[in-house]
Amino acid sequence: MSTSALRNLISLKLKPLSISYPQARIFRNPLTRPARKMSTFVQAPHKLLVIPGPIEVTDEVLYANAHPSMSHMSPDFAPVFGDCIRMIRQGHASGSSVQPEHNKLTYLPDNFFTQRTRSRSSSLVLAPWGGISLQIYGANVDQVKAEIGGAVKEADVERALKAKKYKVVTVTHVDTSTAVLSNVKAVAAVVKRVSPDTLVVVDAVCSVASEEIQMDAWGIDAVLTASQKGLGTPPGLSIVVASQKAIQVFENRSTPVTTYYGSWKKWLPIMKAYENNSAAYFATPPVNLIYAFHASLTQIMQGSVSLEQRFKLHQDSSRRIKKAAEEIGFRGVPISEDVQANGMTALYFPDGFVASDIVPRLLKKDVVVAGGLHASIKDKYFRIGHMGVSVVDSSRGDIDKVISALQETLAEARASKQ
Ligand SMILES: Cc1ncc(COP(=O)(O)O)c(C=O)c1O
Repeated sequence: MSTSALRNLISLKLKPLSISYPQARIFRNPLTRPARKMSTFVQAPHKLLVIPGPIEVTDEVLYANAHPSMSHMSPDFAPVFGDCIRMIRQGHASGSSVQPEHNKLTYLPDNFFTQRTRSRSSSLVLAPWGGISLQIYGANVDQVKAEIGGAVKEADVERALKAKKYKVVTVTHVDTSTAVLSNVKAVAAVVKRVSPDTLVVVDAVCSVASEEIQMDAWGIDAVLTASQKGLGTPPGLSIVVASQKAIQVFENRSTPVTTYYGSWKKWLPIMKAYENNSAAYFATPPVNLIYAFHASLTQIMQGSVSLEQRFKLHQDSSRRIKKAAEEIGFRGVPISEDVQANGMTALYFPDGFVASDIVPRLLKKDVVVAGGLHASIKDKYFRIGHMGVSVVDSSRGDIDKVISALQETLAEARASKQ
């Protein structure tokens, strides 16, 4: 989020964080119904979840998820959904429309921007976005690849764009399989310079709220994300922020939409209605999850930590974990510092060690990490997520716990081999 967007928010005199429901306090007066107070709820003790999503969520978010059942058509619920739309738009530094969609039925933009036309549209996929779903929707997909641990080079993107006309370029902001951060701003700049009509679509599932994204300033046409990572909400929501240009492309399409539940045609009027704080129906939204999302967005957008500080805290924790891990013999998968993600870390095991030496020992210390995912190096590394409340609330001690568990685990694994 940009400083100016943040200032806009502040100038709207948003109220300080205090979660209570039913309510909807952004950009409108609070509802008058009595608040549902979170007096005693504390989530059960549990292992520390530090995979790259889902992540730890706050008590407030979990409590909001336990909201009594509500009608999705209720006038009390509609502004809660409306708040989510407004807050997520602000968080992306975008003046455009938003579609929180339910249950991740599909990656909407793949469908809309790469639909079949008489001569099929072409898409340029910057690896590691596999382009699988684009192909399913009939797009002709070309890929620009990067080496493992590296990001796609802008010069390669430029070459590809000069060789062929593409309707859409897709780029993964943080590749969750390797913890590589792409320079989305630079990629978008290349696209705008070389092929200004081409849409730029960003898979930001593993970057929203842990890495900066400025949709309007960087010229991004669509951002896709999900609730369970930096947005600090249980899994289940797929969130799409689309530029006016992307919506226009959709509205001008010459062929019918070939999906039912994932259709923007169906969803746009619904989202517009909710943004105006009135309910509308196409399919039942996950009401409780939207209460949880509202609670988390409120913490992110109105908490004591600004978005800029939030990004900085992610950088600081990321550096601490990476440094501590490398000091004891792990090696990062990203090939250089400038492509290292701030919300997660991928580490090669030291020579002579495999996943079974490390991951179960961490688990015994109540630290849950994720195994390798990238097919070519799957057994050689593991992944740690450090997003959201684990990095923003240092009083929890999550990052300290991860670091000491890593140190103790490797020492034990070394001792066991002697
Ligand atoms: C970068 C990225 N894109 C897409 C996805 C798919 O998201 P989901 O598993 O919520 O469908 C993930 C999941 O981790 C991801 O990390």
